[in-house]
Amino acid sequence: MKNYSTLVAHWRAWLRNPRAIGSVAPSSARLALAMVAALPADFSGNIIELGGGTGTITRELLNAVGHARLLVVERDPKLIDGLLSTWPELNTLHADAALLNKHLGDSTKAYHAVISGLPLLNMALPVREAIIQACFAVLPDNGVLIQFTYGIHSPVSAVSMARLGLQAERCGRVWNNLPPAQVWRYTRTSTHQVRKTKLITAETSSR
Ligand SMILES: C[S@@+](CC[C@H](N)C(=O)[O-])C[C@H]1O[C@@H](n2cnc3c(N)ncnc32)[C@H](O)[C@@H]1O
Repeated sequence: MKNYSTLVAHWRAWLRNPRAIGSVAPSSARLALAMVAALPADFSGNIIELGGGTGTITRELLNAVGHARLLVVERDPKLIDGLLSTWPELNTLHADAALLNKHLGDSTKAYHAVISGLPLLNMALPVREAIIQACFAVLPDNGVLIQFTYGIHSPVSAVSMARLGLQAERCGRVWNNLPPAQVWRYTRTSTHQVRKTKLITAETSSR
């Protein structure tokens, strides 16, 4: 989409559901690049983008990894139509991100990173945690969730991270965005992985 039509599509979506959109303007190209740069070095896996919207982050993800390695999840069907009119080959899933694991349950494709443009801070805590849990349910142990926020702290609180077995790292600040944003990367804690290994070992030895 061109700049002007992108803005109009964003505002229309905002009028339909202001809380789900959560911003007055689409993300800037700088923020989109910062999200891509937050992927681990030498990343070669498949990516899920949550909340594709009008496609600013989608564009940079397509530049970085191409169609075959990207799935865009979006809840607003009009925004899905807009994305597909720009990129007819785009893999899209019209779904609520909180149900991601249910939708991808029998998918044979493995995903290694989730890049989220969802307005997490506009969501009630249980919804926020359900979305994060759904993301990690489809990611391998070393999978990453990358999320931007307009807040000054991590959009996933320390309490939620402890509950979900996650750790956070701030990967960047982007001033050239309306409003300025921060990029955070979430991974599973090593204690979570140790606990999982112990569970598996205990299960195997009890057989
Ligand atoms: C802040 S906009 C971001 C759009 C675009 N990625 C960007 O950065 O400009 C948030 C997007 O997430 C979508 N969204 C909000 N809640 C969602 C949910 N639970 N599941 C899937 N998409 C959702 C909205 O429809 C909207 O397109």
